[in-house]
Amino acid sequence: MLDVVVSRAALPKSGALVLAVPEGGVAQAIGWAGLDAATGGAVGRALEVAEFQGRKGQTALLLAPGAGLSRLVAVGLGKPGDLTPLTAEEAGGQAIAHLAREEKVAIAPAPHAARIALGAVLRSYRFDRYRTTEKPEEKPRLARLTLLAEDAGSVEAEWAALRPLADGVYLTRDLVSEPPNVLTPAELARRCEALTALGLKVEVFGPKEMAKLGFGALLGVAQGSVNEPRMVVMQWHGAGKGKKGNGKPLAFVGKGVTFDTGGISIKPAAGMEDMKWDMAGAGAVIGLMAALAGRRAKVDAVGLVGLVENMPSGSAQRPGDVVKTYSGQTVEVINTDAEGRLVLADVLWYCQKQFEPRFMIDLATLTGAMIISLGHEIGGFFSNDDDLARRLHAAGEASGERLWRMPLGDAYDKQIKSDIADMKNVGGRPGGAITAAQFIQRFVNGKPWAHLDIAGMAWAVKDSALAAKGATAYGVRLLDRLVADHYEG
Ligand code: BES
Ligand code: MN
Ligand code: ZN
Repeated sequence: MLDVVVSRAALPKSGALVLAVPEGGVAQAIGWAGLDAATGGAVGRALEVAEFQGRKGQTALLLAPGAGLSRLVAVGLGKPGDLTPLTAEEAGGQAIAHLAREEKVAIAPAPHAARIALGAVLRSYRFDRYRTTEKPEEKPRLARLTLLAEDAGSVEAEWAALRPLADGVYLTRDLVSEPPNVLTPAELARRCEALTALGLKVEVFGPKEMAKLGFGALLGVAQGSVNEPRMVVMQWHGAGKGKKGNGKPLAFVGKGVTFDTGGISIKPAAGMEDMKWDMAGAGAVIGLMAALAGRRAKVDAVGLVGLVENMPSGSAQRPGDVVKTYSGQTVEVINTDAEGRLVLADVLWYCQKQFEPRFMIDLATLTGAMIISLGHEIGGFFSNDDDLARRLHAAGEASGERLWRMPLGDAYDKQIKSDIADMKNVGGRPGGAITAAQFIQRFVNGKPWAHLDIAGMAWAVKDSALAAKGATAYGVRLLDRLVADHYEG
């Protein structure tokens, strides 16, 4: 991660400079610290030619504008009355996208300075682990971001509070980007164990422990792979005694299929490599727990992830198999590619039984049907609780990780009736994301619950303001916002 420092507000003598400018604030921005005068009026003239007015999303890049600066980026913050932390983050992301070849970047004093930095840090994430022959002129040079501020102390404190969130997003993106030969269930569990350094309590369950508990659904998915399954339980105790929640934690549950071939109901070859990110739900839960612990959030929370590899082999589960879930309910496995719901069924049941949480939110790259519904713009969610649903929707708008509520209902539940077991694991093509949610709801025992189908959101094929293409870590900022706005203190 690039280094972020806060420093006294003076015109830098070299490197690149970012001006984050509210609409109508251009004159004031170029007058800051005598910038326009120091460049002989070049900055003002260039921004006029560029018709830069500070509108939201507007950017202007100036090369060698004078005064020793190598580049200057002006980025619009939009109307001052509409300015939100998210707008500032997006401005930071948009600005830094022009500055990868700079080593040092300074940001002139601006509102929400730490949010601008967060955006810049998030946008400059890159997964570099396996590039060994890249030429120096192709590599980003960016190493240090300096926030120039009059009130350096308060900006520093704001950044210190946000940095763990950036760390959590980076962790999730690393996990989701890792290739599936490296990130097996056991390796992913080891990466979770490393989080004890942040003060999380981490427990790992292997196949023997899960067999003893009776996790027939999760183990059925895992049985075709030579890579053993794991379940990881991460606990964060930050509420203190006698505080909100009466000792009951918030619970987050993630689907962690480290590779999904489909199993015996095997997927087509084209694009199958995408299924390395079928653990993005688990990845988001892990990054969220790291963020909460990193910022010492005043809340009790548990994160549970079910980690399996879905492979075809002589030992793989067959279409037609009936498995007994930890809840006692039986499932006829019609399609071995509908494996995520089988994994979540056992982990959700364990979660309720063990923790009696205030709510359970699960995240899963669960269905292609969800991508057909909402594309890659908005995540779909399902909930049995209107208050939780409202809060989630609001957290989505505030964080920019948007959500849209989808329906549940008996008519959909009928689609997963089985002739020989309590249910089957698929409900046909119509409403495929909804019948998947109905399946999961059968493993929710009355608790407030929400299911986030993030299949369309976990991986991006094009750059956006806060993420270069690749793993997005969708869900981490969303749920950190939800916790911060309603459940802390
Ligand atoms: N992991 C997939 C869903 C998925 C597909 C996520 C594409 C991201 C991109 C899931 O396990 C799956 O295979 N679902 C099936 C369910 C079907 C067999 C009922 C699907 O959506 O096709
Ligand atoms: Mn599948
Ligand atoms: Zn899957």
